[in-house]
Amino acid sequence: MTDRNRSLSGIKPTGEPHLGNYLGMIQPAIELQTEYDAFYFVADYHALTSVNDPQKLRDSVYHLTAYFLAFGLDPERAAFFRQSDIPEVTELTWLLSCVTHMGLLERAHAYKAAIDRGEEKDINHGVFSYPVLMASDILIYDSDIVPVGADQIQHVEMTRDMAQRFNRAFGGDFLKLPEHRVRGEVATVLGTDGRKMSKSYGNVIEPLLPPKKLRKQIMKIETDSAGLHDPKDPDSCTIVSLYKLFATPEEVATMKGRYREGGYGYGHAKQALFEKLDDTFHPYRQRYEEVLGDHDLLESVLQEGAKKVRPIVDEVMDRVRSAAGLGRPG
Ligand code: ADP
Ligand code: TRP
Repeated sequence: MTDRNRSLSGIKPTGEPHLGNYLGMIQPAIELQTEYDAFYFVADYHALTSVNDPQKLRDSVYHLTAYFLAFGLDPERAAFFRQSDIPEVTELTWLLSCVTHMGLLERAHAYKAAIDRGEEKDINHGVFSYPVLMASDILIYDSDIVPVGADQIQHVEMTRDMAQRFNRAFGGDFLKLPEHRVRGEVATVLGTDGRKMSKSYGNVIEPLLPPKKLRKQIMKIETDSAGLHDPKDPDSCTIVSLYKLFATPEEVATMKGRYREGGYGYGHAKQALFEKLDDTFHPYRQRYEEVLGDHDLLESVLQEGAKKVRPIVDEVMDRVRSAAGLGRPG
């Protein structure tokens, strides 16, 4: 590794990535590999809060690895690895747990949302302490920036809080404070029902699906009940908001003009969006299908990635263990 700043992010293997994941995290993270030492991982420990099927979990790790390779992650430059190949993150999680107040974790959005849904009795401890494991993921690599979508900003803020508490408790700058990196225009990509696109809402568009299935997902986008001939408001329409993320400004202006004139139906707009996405993602889909079956390649990318980050993990863990008074006096 070099003395450049470090970009780090993770993604849970809990299903196929969707447009929100791609625009909010995958694409920005991959772009940063030219300017930063890039460390990206598949958060398989985190997935265990909701996945209890080992085969599915392993398959999902390979799918995500193939995704990143298809979208241009360069394993020569970046380290791409499995979270669980660095088991020390669970050790650092414990050290951070001991300086983290329950009150901080009770304010976490995901936990609060589960409580609001009345799931208090069903929430496992992994869900409650999820932000601590995530903080550990970030801090164990002395990360500088964390490219994520807007929904993860709170977790990065909590990470800073935990690092500060650790540093204060043991009296030194042992852990580095990271910053989140969120791209404004894609901070929150909308799903087919107009809410934030999310696996848990079932409103996703998965860009590498075969064309027929992709089209089917796009056709599910909800609209108002305006008829074919009615003029329509392009600025309140989910189809336009997604089209804008891929089309040229001229193409967007043309679509908006057609909305305002009338005689242009939502079905036409969905078809235009489908064609745009299919065109954009066609080459990636081919590459994805090529690498997906090559488990030796995928596994070697993951193992090489883990090897690259290993020296940093050893250094940071020595630092924090010694700060806390664990192990033999050094
Ligand atoms: P999901 O909400 O579908 O479970 P994840 O929590 O696995 O997605 O998110 C993985 C990454 O993708 C995170 O960095 C997250 O901020 C980003 N992301 C997820 N959904 C969106 C969205 N709708 N718009 C922008 N970024 C998103
Ligand atoms: N919590 C993130 C998500 O749900 C995934 C994640 C785990 C992560 N550890 C991380 C993201 C560390 C950035 C940094 O999407």
